[in-house]
Amino acid sequence: MTRVFSGIKPTGHLTLGNYLGALRRWAEVDQHRSDALFCVVDLHALTVEHDPERVRRLSRQLATLFLACGLDPDVSTVFVQSHVPEHTRLSYLLECTATDGEMRRMIQYKEKAALERARGGSVRLSLLTYPALMAADILAYGTDEVPVGDDQTQHVELARDLAVRFNQRYGETFVVPRANPPAVAARVMNLQDPTSKMGKSEASAAGVVHLLDEPDVVRSKILRAVTDSGREVVHDREAKPGVSNLLEILSSCTGGNPEALAGVYESYGALKKDTAEAVVELLEPVQAKHKELCADPGYVEEVLMRGAERARAMARPRVDAAYEAIGLLPPG
Ligand code: TYM
Repeated sequence: MTRVFSGIKPTGHLTLGNYLGALRRWAEVDQHRSDALFCVVDLHALTVEHDPERVRRLSRQLATLFLACGLDPDVSTVFVQSHVPEHTRLSYLLECTATDGEMRRMIQYKEKAALERARGGSVRLSLLTYPALMAADILAYGTDEVPVGDDQTQHVELARDLAVRFNQRYGETFVVPRANPPAVAARVMNLQDPTSKMGKSEASAAGVVHLLDEPDVVRSKILRAVTDSGREVVHDREAKPGVSNLLEILSSCTGGNPEALAGVYESYGALKKDTAEAVVELLEPVQAKHKELCADPGYVEEVLMRGAERARAMARPRVDAAYEAIGLLPPG
């Protein structure tokens, strides 16, 4: 059976981008066709300036939202990264396999490091080594496929390279994984600036739809989305980034493809209205289930405990094998 692994870091409130680009497909497709693990990758949240209490709160909220979005703990393994020490154990070996040049070439490193410096802060070393930990997340489980949005494919490519290099140097140890981005909505854009990604750590919430936004907030954000000059509704990311983003969101919600949908609309206003209603409708059951789960925090904790035990049992043999293959003496 195909092994799938993916994760989200608790650095902000989940967005429509996270949902359409990743989570929704994990719940609707991936967990039913594969042996899947879904992880709250909390260690990754420590690579930039963070507030401990916020990370704790967001981690709990993220795990609850995983379940609210339909991840079924009886079908997939749902857990928190820091509960399974194999991730950091393996990460070190992969730091010894990667080069600093490879790490410095990562687009996300360049962008985030520049942002930290512009804010007058310093760059944590873990921001540079982040992709080694992400590769460890993936490789520890013999993962075949990694369902992620567009922005993560470069990191998955690096995980591939590290798997191949490790196997060549020290013997077959890792499965070589591949990224599996969705056909539509692999990069949902900010509604106020459709040339940049809708991200969870954005300073302004105006262009970002959050999973737990009230229906009226969702409507107002989408109705106020920046559109493009001209009047014609066409799907063209270069010439019409705002309209194209709305078409992709709508087609991801309702099925169909953005090019075909474009032909249905004669005005930007009508497109916005339908997109807003489609998103509200899509989020409604997630929000209802989230409310239910919040009333029973003990259940979520129990799911995470079970998930961590299961994940550890899956990861340990391969990570032990990697320790031995690279030349470390087994204990006892
Ligand atoms: P993160 O937490 O930034 O995002 C989680 C997932 O959501 C996708 N995503 C989007 N998809 C479409 N449009 C958007 N605007 C959008 N924004 C985010 C991301 O592509 C991702 O799939 N490094 C990863 C977390 C991670 C991970 C892993 C993922 C750590 N270890 C191992 C897979 C496997 C990250 O920062 O994702």
